[in-house]
Amino acid sequence: MRKKIVAGNWKMNTSPQEGLALAKAVEAKASHGLPQGVELVVAPPFTHLSAVAAVLSKVGLSAQNCATHDSGAYTGEVSASMLKQAGAGYVIIGHSERRSYYGETDQSLSLKMAQLLKNGLTPIFCCGEVLDERESGKHFEVVEAQVANVLFQLSEEDFRKVVIAYEPVWAIGTGRTASPEQAQEMHAAIRGWLRGHFGDSAAADCAILYGGSCKASNAQELFANPDVDGGLIGGASLNADEFWAIANSF
Ligand code: 13P
Repeated sequence: MRKKIVAGNWKMNTSPQEGLALAKAVEAKASHGLPQGVELVVAPPFTHLSAVAAVLSKVGLSAQNCATHDSGAYTGEVSASMLKQAGAGYVIIGHSERRSYYGETDQSLSLKMAQLLKNGLTPIFCCGEVLDERESGKHFEVVEAQVANVLFQLSEEDFRKVVIAYEPVWAIGTGRTASPEQAQEMHAAIRGWLRGHFGDSAAADCAILYGGSCKASNAQELFANPDVDGGLIGGASLNADEFWAIANSF
């Protein structure tokens, strides 16, 4: 059985105090009982990780990026092992904001993926097409290449540690959510490519999350789809009540 996961990507939001208060509020809700079979994860900025780790026990902790190398002269970078030591269990890689603003490529993502696996961290690997690609009917081809170029070089054993997040770029922060049909169609396609490469069992066990303007008012119809295993939530994860309502939408 694959996991259900609701992860909150806080992006570059919250002061350290605000982040700690938000993490405590989410943890307080989770400590009264997580929804059956659901993992809840928060992904604060790097600077908040250690402090947030100290107040979480029911809720998982993620970073939003990691370095391509172990250590050394890479000014401004943060290594996977540092994230692990700060208390993270997950790391988001390949977010469209990092692909488009910071030049993240399949090649750099492969290096990051290797760092995460080496350090026992769970990668949350993001993929998704931009609006032009969807409108020109290239969305399947684009997402298949993103998935194949980074994930198909992994062994089945390593692939089984990966969580995928499909985030159509046109739906991120726009209020324009993918319809449940659009989400299901792409999630099923992703699972089909995974099945072709890794086999039935590994594909069936992989959690594929949806991200892009997901909120309490639309999470239920998105999560009701057979291949949608949860969400990667941006804006709506900055409010503990809203985030908790999303977690309870299965
Ligand atoms: P929004 O939920 O704000 O659209 O962001 C989605 C996202 O990018 C999560 O990683």
